[in-house]
Amino acid sequence: MRTVQSLISMYKEGNYYLKRMLVLVSLLTALISCGGNGSGGTVPDVNQAPLFTSTSSFSTLDNSFKTGYQAVATDKEDTAIIYSITGGADDVDFLIEPESGAVSFVIAPDFEHPHDENIDNIYEVEISATDSNYASSRLNLKITVSGNRVLLVIPIVVHVLYQEDTEHESNITEEKILSQIVVLNKDFRMKNTDLDNVAAEFKSIVTDMEIEFEMAKVDPNGEATNGITRTLDLTHESADENNIYFGNSGGHDAWPTNEYLNIWIYDGSDRLGNIGLGGRGQFPGGDPLTDGVVIPYQAFGTINPVARNQNLHLGRTATHEIGHWLDLRHVEMETNFMDTYVPDQQMLMFSEGQKATVHSIFSDGGGREELYENLTK
Ligand code: ARG
Ligand code: ZN
Repeated sequence: MRTVQSLISMYKEGNYYLKRMLVLVSLLTALISCGGNGSGGTVPDVNQAPLFTSTSSFSTLDNSFKTGYQAVATDKEDTAIIYSITGGADDVDFLIEPESGAVSFVIAPDFEHPHDENIDNIYEVEISATDSNYASSRLNLKITVSGNRVLLVIPIVVHVLYQEDTEHESNITEEKILSQIVVLNKDFRMKNTDLDNVAAEFKSIVTDMEIEFEMAKVDPNGEATNGITRTLDLTHESADENNIYFGNSGGHDAWPTNEYLNIWIYDGSDRLGNIGLGGRGQFPGGDPLTDGVVIPYQAFGTINPVARNQNLHLGRTATHEIGHWLDLRHVEMETNFMDTYVPDQQMLMFSEGQKATVHSIFSDGGGREELYENLTK
């Protein structure tokens, strides 16, 4: 680690001196050409370095790669500006996009465990803006990280699509639905009692996602609700799987997806009673009308009917699909909720990296920024 860091800083120093040399050479060239033209009296037309207009101190929340800070400099000659990181006590912690000036963390900071040089959650980095004539100026930027203490509570609406008649077992009880909410609030808060079974090599990176769920209490019309809709399933077996998302094709329309997490429950069994797909969850940034997760009633909650024979009986399908909805991809990390094709009893944890990914979608410009704003205003 140390070697890599010193290599990085050697590389950065090298770069820095190279740039200083180029600045000197271009200044000299400019001076020589002015001196030679013999016109006398005119002010030499020396290129001017860019000027920073962005602030030198900035605050951001922890657990996100994004800082939200963007370096901005103006150039008198109006040439293209390239931004780079050229120093500062915490330079190795940052990346900058050369053209946009957007600054991000290499590793998402954690307020409780600061990793800046003087361990005070104030990260120091020197940014340079260089114009096309290699003239550059520097800015000492301080980024203060504060703890993301806003516990996000996401309201859920469950659309139950039941078969044949209201008595059918697919018309699951409210009790069964609530048993799923209990599982989610354990799994996402690192309160699941089977954590002991996490693979040894991943024990140190298990994390509390700091996200909770509750049944919606107010519907889109502002009326009180228990967060459950019930509809006779008219989507038909062989039909387009998207039918489930729309009332006019036999399913149920989503409630506004920038305010609720929509969960559609359907009969996922084939003729032999097996649950094929397991479930699906839409990533952030998709069609708002189909945004949410779809789960067979046999894999939802912990109360019967649950497909114990297929190890889908602990409510982990919903944990997994909501993971997708929160931007998580599959991983080959044993005992992770985002591992696929493993039994419910082997899905046990989210990692710190996954938390950073999830919290990034709620930050400025993130895929669920609007939901976050609606839930925290
Ligand atoms: N295969 C589905 C997916 O990758 C769901 C997997 C859920 N697995 C489970 N043991 N509950 O999205
Ligand atoms: Zn999956």
